Amino acid sequence: MSAPPLKFAGPVLDEATIAGVGDVLRSGQIASGPWVRRFEDGLSAFCGGRPVRALTSATAAVEVALQLCDVGPGDEVITCAQSFYTVLNMIVKVGATPVFVDCDLVTRNIDLGAVEAAITPRTRAIVPTHWPGSLVDLDRLYALAKARGLRVIEDAALVLGSQWKGRNVGAVGDLVTFSFHPNKNLTTIEGGALVVNDQTEAARVETLRFHGITYLADRTRDVAFPGGKFNLPDVNARIGCAQLERLPAFLATRRALAERYTEQFATEPVCVLPPRPQPGDGQSWNMWNVLLPLDRLTRDRRQLRDALEARGIGTGVSYEALHLSTLGRRHGGREGQHPNTERIARETVTLPLHAAMTLTDVDRVCAEMSDVIAAARN
Ligand SMILES: Cc1ncc(COP(=O)(O)O)c(C=O)c1O
Repeated sequence: MSAPPLKFAGPVLDEATIAGVGDVLRSGQIASGPWVRRFEDGLSAFCGGRPVRALTSATAAVEVALQLCDVGPGDEVITCAQSFYTVLNMIVKVGATPVFVDCDLVTRNIDLGAVEAAITPRTRAIVPTHWPGSLVDLDRLYALAKARGLRVIEDAALVLGSQWKGRNVGAVGDLVTFSFHPNKNLTTIEGGALVVNDQTEAARVETLRFHGITYLADRTRDVAFPGGKFNLPDVNARIGCAQLERLPAFLATRRALAERYTEQFATEPVCVLPPRPQPGDGQSWNMWNVLLPLDRLTRDRRQLRDALEARGIGTGVSYEALHLSTLGRRHGGREGQHPNTERIARETVTLPLHAAMTLTDVDRVCAEMSDVIAAARN
């Protein structure tokens, strides 16, 4: 009997969590309520006591964060061309202009030298995406932001549980967004969170995530600006609370899997690898992506991915180049502007890594990968 297919990402949900969701459903209190507050408290404790508000996705969190920074028409926002569509979409959605910069080829983090060069009098904020094996240099990022009077929205969708100098991402900095999509380090099915600086900002997030409604003394309501509808239901928050308890175990598994990939890829096959995991370096390894040696192969990425999937190995592409999307091109994106991003977009493949996997699963992926690449050698 052949081994079951391996997805490239996925959640781990236990029976106790499923039973807990049943309890919430039976309680009649299923929209935002006590479980959301409990989840937010848990996330806040994880983020060094900073205020955290839950939302329905990281995408909503980025939109609300941009609104919190009063970013709008006429403003420029600097972001990395190697990221998910969320950052581009939300910058455009609030009416601002996205300004792309390139990333480092190995860490895939935003090039802070290029950020500095891209700042103009219209720049309002920087939105860097942290990569799972190595964070953006927060000391350098915040020194730059402070010197130039800019807000920062850290897209930490992939790095809940990664640490910067021994502190969890979210515990330091300006605004920080997390995703709880099923492929992330912790899931609420769909969901996200925004870490803010103080209770005034937290109160504004509460308004922005719920129609823009404010409550008046006579117990009626008012809206002064159009808010979104981004409040997380209690059913989802119940899952999040259970997941938060298991997060340390999920992270330990992810770190062990990333180490195994690095050992296995040390000799074969020849790909550009993520940074080598160091013992105790505190990275959360949401994904493990390599660059394929396509110039030495007779098959293209699509064919290699199809071959892997025929052998039961799920793969992904993280990410396409934002500036070369149709929307990115409308904002000035052209081939050749960001060479590292473009190379990654052409050559990258995401291999399976999630907390339900074992070291033997990694060995299986690597053996299949070696076979598929050997069969495609010139
Ligand atoms: C880097 C990055 N940022 C933001 C997001 C958006 O997350 P969500 O699906 O929770 O909106 C994703 C989703 O995959 C992502 O990969």
